Amino acid sequence: MSEFMGNLRRTDMCGGFRMADVGREVTVMGWVQRRRNLGSLIFVDLRDRTGVVQIVFDEDRKNGTFEKAEGVRSEFVIAARGTVRERESKTNKIPTGDIEIVADELKILSEAETTPFEITDETNVNEMLRLKYRYLDLRRSTLQKNLITRFEITKAARTYLNDNGFMEIETPFLGKSTPEGARDYLVPSRIHEGCFYALPQSPQLYKQLLMIAGYDRYYQITKCFRDEDLRANRQPEFTQIDLEMSFVEEETDVMYPVEGLIKKIFKDAIGMDLGEGHFRTLPYAEAMDRFGSDKPDTRFGLELKNVTDVVADMDFVVFKSAIENGGSVRAINAKGFASKLSRRDLDGLGEYVKTLGAKGLAWISHPNGEQIKSSFMKFLTPEKISQIAAVTDFEEGDVLFFAADKNTVVFNALGGLRLHLAEKYDLIDKDSYDILWVTEFPLMAMHHPFTSPKTEDLPLLDTDPGKVRAKAYDLVINGQEAGGGSIRIFNRDIQKKMFNVLGFTDEDIQRKFGFFVNAFNYGTPPHGGLAFGLDRLTMLLTKTDSIKDVIAFPKVQTAADVMSEAPGVVDEKQLKELFLEINAPEKK
Ligand code: AMO
Ligand code: AMP
Repeated sequence: MSEFMGNLRRTDMCGGFRMADVGREVTVMGWVQRRRNLGSLIFVDLRDRTGVVQIVFDEDRKNGTFEKAEGVRSEFVIAARGTVRERESKTNKIPTGDIEIVADELKILSEAETTPFEITDETNVNEMLRLKYRYLDLRRSTLQKNLITRFEITKAARTYLNDNGFMEIETPFLGKSTPEGARDYLVPSRIHEGCFYALPQSPQLYKQLLMIAGYDRYYQITKCFRDEDLRANRQPEFTQIDLEMSFVEEETDVMYPVEGLIKKIFKDAIGMDLGEGHFRTLPYAEAMDRFGSDKPDTRFGLELKNVTDVVADMDFVVFKSAIENGGSVRAINAKGFASKLSRRDLDGLGEYVKTLGAKGLAWISHPNGEQIKSSFMKFLTPEKISQIAAVTDFEEGDVLFFAADKNTVVFNALGGLRLHLAEKYDLIDKDSYDILWVTEFPLMAMHHPFTSPKTEDLPLLDTDPGKVRAKAYDLVINGQEAGGGSIRIFNRDIQKKMFNVLGFTDEDIQRKFGFFVNAFNYGTPPHGGLAFGLDRLTMLLTKTDSIKDVIAFPKVQTAADVMSEAPGVVDEKQLKELFLEINAPEKK
């Protein structure tokens, strides 16, 4: 006998009942989703992690449960024993809709106050309130489904990696501040006065050291910490599926097995078969050229066209000065948009690209059956228009948008405009998945100095380092960077050259990562790896827009946890122990 549940033992979870269960005597336990009184019958929808089942309390059965059920309220925790029977009025709204449980025994295990908001699938309750009571919000099936998908993803990843010769190894959270591009979260040491640990931005250095130590084929599903400004797809602490392998080549040994991992994850987590064959590969330069982004969404067109050569002889100062300053002029042809976009829409798009750093957005529009119009008409001749049309496939009905500036600005503006138009005019098939590798990143753009240059570009390291391409690869899904990695430098001379190019002095190197570079003196295998953002993968697979919706206890934009109210002030005593003094306006 249990003190709380009497002789009741749970036999089933709520969500699994089907017609085959009719006639069984069962005991279920869970939370009351809803109670309805219908004369001599009370219906309770009982919820647990697996779903909802209807329980009927019938006054006529004279077993005392009806009277008890009258006291039951939403979110009470109850146990009920009864018999499964076929429902008279079936519903296909819930998977258990063919049956109900007619109760013979009821026990109220825990009462509940009125919750601050109703627990329903769809909700328009203020997000802050839901986050404050996150444990209640997590009762909603929408969030449950996301977390279950997240679990299916890690389960699939572990199975695949375990089966493919990877070994899971943990690495420290309390480590040394290492260079990865974002700001570190620091942890003061009590024992070492004035010294700090840094929480890892990723296990990068440790996993490379594990390769040097001979633990070939490492993986870890682990937290990473980055003190950076948050966006819709970023959290200060997030999870990586992190891999590293030795004796590997970029394509055959890293990218291909990783494709297998992604296919397994899609299959197991959402039942989607990504088919045979390798993922597409797009070199970085081509991705920028065509899509203005190193994480292109290629589910729609609106590709960029370089018109620098055809507009170079124009007197339009906007174009001229951009070209003279070493920049370019590029265009997007919004096919068939001429009649859709009013003058105001065009101006609005101009304002939009300004938020992306562009100075403006020039355009040429040819509405059906009308004259060609343009924001720089006085500089255009029919001949110039046809030259531009030849490069951009511009026809009656189309609008051309131009950005002129340094390449980085042009790419950012038109890459962003592309996405903006696609979103606004619904050009994306949201059901599809678009998966591709972006490769050959510029070496100088990498976040850490341990990425290997492409062998054929090695000579350029001395002469034109900006042109050197890296053995680096990102996996892009639906325009989001889902994962990325590289082949690492394992040759000491190249590493030294790399540090020199980046302007590190020998002293810098020793101070910042001496322990790491010294390890390379004792036998280092060629190695490489990559890391997936688990949170982003889950967002992609659940089609969720907010990263918060795939994390059990997420942080908000200000990096705070509004439920526990972290970060918070600490006792004077704790500060003293850590040799710290607060030099900030007092927090109320
Ligand atoms: P990188 O910095 O590209 O690589 O990170 C790998 C993946 O982690 C995810 N990610 C994030 N997700 C949520 N919130 C964040 N703040 C955040 N930052 C990154 C992204 C990204 O693709 N050590 C290297 C990997 C390697 O070279 O092996 C690394 O950390 O999905
Ligand atoms: P203005 O000569 O300033 O009136 O600009 C003429 C047109 O060029 C307007 O449509 C501006 O939005 C556009 N424009 C201004 N700067 C740029 C730029 N850097 N790239 C593309 N178009 C621009």
